[in-house]
Amino acid sequence: MTSVEQNNRPYGTLAKLWESVVNPILSTVEPKNIVEVGSDFGHLTQKLLEFCYEHGGEVHSIDPAPKYDADVFRKKYGDRLHMHKAKSIDALPLLTQYDAVIIDGDHNWHTVHSELKIIEQYAKQKGVFPAVILHDTGWPYGRRDMYYAPESIPEEFRKSYAQKGMVPWKQKVQEEGGFNRSCCNALTEGEERSGVLTAVEDFLKETSLSLLWKEIPGIHGAGILVDKATIQHNENLAAFLAAFTINDVLGTHVHAVENDRIDTVLQLRRTETSLNETTVKLQQAQEEVFFLSEKFQNQLSLNFSARKELQAVTNALESARNRIAELENECSALLAQRKVLLRSKSWLLTAPLRTLETLRRHVMRGVLRRH
Ligand SMILES: C[S@@+](CC[C@H](N)C(=O)[O-])C[C@H]1O[C@@H](n2cnc3c(N)ncnc32)[C@H](O)[C@@H]1O
Repeated sequence: MTSVEQNNRPYGTLAKLWESVVNPILSTVEPKNIVEVGSDFGHLTQKLLEFCYEHGGEVHSIDPAPKYDADVFRKKYGDRLHMHKAKSIDALPLLTQYDAVIIDGDHNWHTVHSELKIIEQYAKQKGVFPAVILHDTGWPYGRRDMYYAPESIPEEFRKSYAQKGMVPWKQKVQEEGGFNRSCCNALTEGEERSGVLTAVEDFLKETSLSLLWKEIPGIHGAGILVDKATIQHNENLAAFLAAFTINDVLGTHVHAVENDRIDTVLQLRRTETSLNETTVKLQQAQEEVFFLSEKFQNQLSLNFSARKELQAVTNALESARNRIAELENECSALLAQRKVLLRSKSWLLTAPLRTLETLRRHVMRGVLRRH
């Protein structure tokens, strides 16, 4: 698989070549022990386990940093899965029995070349080279190194690299955008001892074994390395590989289709980047709206209680005014009543008596003061 998974989406998993390449090859080879180098999210691992579940067999999955839970698979497929959390060049030499290997781990010349050398040693002991399927023999890592752990690659084999993206029509990595820009990609495509396909070709030049190499273009390219002796004894495999022969005309066409596909993926990535940026802005705007609406609600409730208070004061004022009006009416009524009383006959006839009474009080007060 070439691309870095985003949100666990299987962009370039080898599982995409299951129907057209991997399953037909495995079905003709009928392996009992399959080695998977590089499992990542386990998309292909699951297919391999299903295959072994159906046909019998076991899977040795090698990956220093797998991103799936092996127990989930074990619950479903039993003890068919052997997980090796290690680098291929450490784990492969320890395996004692396998008939098929799928290489999709660290996509650089040194690692792939070393893996093939280890398998060659194994083949020399067993007398037969197992069927080896490799992914990423096409663009971008066919002719360019990528390092999952650059520090683990000996300096003499490690190319200058950067976490920068690539495009199919430029040899140099891109300052902006491009494919797999979070990976440690060699700065230049096409250097000597660089890339997965170059590693296969260099291995083939060096090996004394009699092997057939068949390249399958598309979806970042795949290929199968198989012992010529195996093909002689396996008609179905021979027929399948023969059918996969691609002439120049078809090859050019597949190349164009692949480049167009990559262009679409690049556009998709750009759209996703914009989408992420816009989503962040949207979230910020939503937070701001939330904050402002909280503030508005607070103001509204403050306003509401102030209005309630104002209404209560207004009501009190109104009832005070009403009370004043009532009392004024009462006063007027009493004043009128008093006026009527002062003008009444009994009040006028009893006036001398009230005068005498007043005098009497004066006299009494004088007498009292003298004593
Ligand atoms: C491209 S992904 C594999 C995808 C998987 N084969 C599929 O088709 O879904 C590469 C994986 O190789 C692993 N890897 C990196 N260096 C490795 C090494 N030296 N040996 C084995 N696996 C390695 C990475 O951790 C990563 O999970």
